[in-house]
Amino acid sequence: MSEITFSPIHTDGQRAAPSAVAALIRSRRTIHLFKPEPAPRAKLLAALDLARWAPNHRLTEPWRFYVLGRDTAEAVARLNADIVAEKRGARAAQAKLDRWLSMPGWLVVTFRIADNLVDTQENYAACCCAVQNMQLYLWSEGIGMKWGTGKVTSDPRFFDLLGIDPAQEKLVGMFWYGYPAEIPQSPRKPVEDFITELG
Ligand SMILES: Cc1cc2nc3c(=O)[nH]c(=O)nc-3n(C[C@H](O)[C@H](O)[C@H](O)COP(=O)(O)O)c2cc1C
Repeated sequence: MSEITFSPIHTDGQRAAPSAVAALIRSRRTIHLFKPEPAPRAKLLAALDLARWAPNHRLTEPWRFYVLGRDTAEAVARLNADIVAEKRGARAAQAKLDRWLSMPGWLVVTFRIADNLVDTQENYAACCCAVQNMQLYLWSEGIGMKWGTGKVTSDPRFFDLLGIDPAQEKLVGMFWYGYPAEIPQSPRKPVEDFITELG
């Protein structure tokens, strides 16, 4: 894997311009439509390397990354189609299957279940921070993601397909990634709606 060139502030005094960070955070969008060509593997590996620099209480490093090849991705897509078929019929299932099979990149992120609830929740929180590190880095490289937590991701057969022990790990998300074919808008309410000032 190629080394990441971001420089820590404390070693050489360099830092990303704050406005560049703000623009990156603001401009990132969940991508629903991707171009067919896959993103380079080196970019994904760089993103996973950066993901694990997220804060994590007691340095549990709770993240686990599953990079899906075509066979596993197709198996997940077919499992999803089976689930859709049960509820919404064969036509809907085929449409989903076609869409899912067109996704250029697949990643699953899980977190380690700890031996108590507080640590388990903190492991999940750390992994959400890791995911955002990953998403923002990829976005800075022109690569978008979609975070999915749909029905298939809670099906025991999904865990079987990936070889994940559900007694040890829980899902953070299933991610599609690649070059955006379209960048949607996503509004936010005014920040004041969420702030309580205390004297
Ligand atoms: C924990 C989590 C789970 C999500 N699951 C889904 C999902 O199952 N399907 C989906 O379309 N988007 C999912 N998303 C993406 C959100 O819908 C998306 O972030 C939101 O619409 C805001 O859009 P933005 O990411 O472009 O700002 C999920 C996001 C998070 C943080």
